[in-house]
Amino acid sequence: MRIAVLPGDGIGPEVTAEALKVLRVMEKKYDLKIEIKQGEIGGSAMEKYGTPLPEETIDICQEAEAVFLGSVGHPKWDSLPPEKRPEIGGLLKLRKLLQLYANIRPVVLFEKLKEVSPLCDSILAKKIDILIVRELASGIYFGQPRAFTGHEALDTMRYKVEEVERIARLAFEIAGKRRKKVTSVDKANVLHSSMLWRKVVGQVAPGFPQVRLNHLYVDNAAMQLILNPSQFDVILTSNLFGDILSDESAALVGSLGLLPSASIGEKINLYEPVGGSAPDIAGKGIANPIAQILCLGLMFEYSFSRADLALVIFKAVEQALNDGFRTQDVVAPGMSCKTTAEVGNKVCEYVLNWTN
Ligand code: IPM
Ligand code: MN
Repeated sequence: MRIAVLPGDGIGPEVTAEALKVLRVMEKKYDLKIEIKQGEIGGSAMEKYGTPLPEETIDICQEAEAVFLGSVGHPKWDSLPPEKRPEIGGLLKLRKLLQLYANIRPVVLFEKLKEVSPLCDSILAKKIDILIVRELASGIYFGQPRAFTGHEALDTMRYKVEEVERIARLAFEIAGKRRKKVTSVDKANVLHSSMLWRKVVGQVAPGFPQVRLNHLYVDNAAMQLILNPSQFDVILTSNLFGDILSDESAALVGSLGLLPSASIGEKINLYEPVGGSAPDIAGKGIANPIAQILCLGLMFEYSFSRADLALVIFKAVEQALNDGFRTQDVVAPGMSCKTTAEVGNKVCEYVLNWTN
């Protein structure tokens, strides 16, 4: 397993370090052959190389079978020109380069974390197990023209039929292996790009007769996620709406520090947590490493066809949380906060002791 590791900025390096500990334990226990090459991305790369995505990093990624990324960004780089900013010149450029067209974000409520969810008991009585399929290589993140002239600025939300077809097909395929329901989220009452989105998704649907399809406007979807999250199986949506709804979903299940994601490309997939670089808590050793650790699970499943190993990681994480090994973002009242490393070490211990 050839893996490119890009820790990035903010809490990226701290949480990536914990995930790599878990990976090494997995390697030993399951007799895997793992080859890791580390690269720089984001603001830290910018300061060293003058670019947030150095050539060396691109090479390391293209030679790997999977890319394992921490996070990028910090307010101190917000005044740089767009192409030098960690997000645009680093992460988005890499997403485009690797043609990562789909971002898969599983949202699962761990039983014990019901106590930290902001939702009330009657809503939590039903299971929350959602999979957001976010379009990642197009839409308003990349549409041309885009410009900032000083007194005026613009972005373009643009979708082509083929782009919608491709992401829709993936969402239906995944739903076919789950609870067989796709909810497509758009703003087709106002936006032309959404009118196209809704039409094309409707045309893809008959190819998957076993999967039910419904459509929601994004404002309604944001509300439904809070009122009745268990109605959702697969949420299929565009780049911007997926970005927003996934942070909201993370809050429902306890914390932004819990959600992993898999970005699916033509050849190489990339794995990164849904939450960002969290500059306010970076360097303190208190960030939640769970999202990054769960990224390992997605990597085993989607890049190396080892869903069995993904399950081991998931179970080890669940056990650590159940035993009260929780960082500040997910502690229940009266519980003590554990550090990033304490949580990471506990997960390692459970992986090591796991028996099927
Ligand atoms: C995410 C992040 C990124 C995005 C940022 C860091 C560019 O918020 O992966 O959700 O907006 O896609
Ligand atoms: Mn986001």
